[in-house]
Amino acid sequence: MSVNASTADPRLEGRAVRRIVYDAPAIAKRVKELGAEITAAYPDGELLVLGLLKGSFIFLSDLVREINRPLQVDFLVASSYGDNTVSSGNVRLVYDPETRLEGKHILLVEDIVDTGRTLNRLMDLLRARNPRSLEICALLHKHIAEELKYDTRFIGYDAPHEFLVGYGLDHAESFRHLPYIASLQ
Ligand code: PRP
Repeated sequence: MSVNASTADPRLEGRAVRRIVYDAPAIAKRVKELGAEITAAYPDGELLVLGLLKGSFIFLSDLVREINRPLQVDFLVASSYGDNTVSSGNVRLVYDPETRLEGKHILLVEDIVDTGRTLNRLMDLLRARNPRSLEICALLHKHIAEELKYDTRFIGYDAPHEFLVGYGLDHAESFRHLPYIASLQ
């Protein structure tokens, strides 16, 4: 859903947005649907929801409250972009989950799949720890990841090919707290 972009938002640090791509009510509705889909997909077994920080922190916190079954939450920290808007291709693992993964359903939660390099690296690493199952849930997927070796089972939106900020996504660490997702001018 698109609505007219407002440059009057004080959170934008004077930057102009090209457009608001997904507003807060639309995101809430879609996250609720994803939660129901995930609940239905895991009828039994231990479920560990692994949020990839920092970008997924808002999506993850909303999503887990829409999953109506027992689960545990842990995090991974990787970094690939630095302060640039183009992926460097270097994926660094900064924090490793402390929770045991073996024998559990692992759901890796990403804010956005862009080149897919981050996921390739992390999925290889997680698969080696013998989970019962290993799936990806991404709020946004650009479908340009030719290098991506893994399917994304749960997708919120097929994202436009624009640089997106808000709802956890940043530009040089700003704009993560926008309650909507916008593309910058
Ligand atoms: C961003 C985003 C994804 C990743 C996607 O993370 O949050 O994790 O890049 O890009 P890719 O598909 O090209 O690998 P970033 O490294 O910017 O860290 P952040 O989550 O802290 O914003």
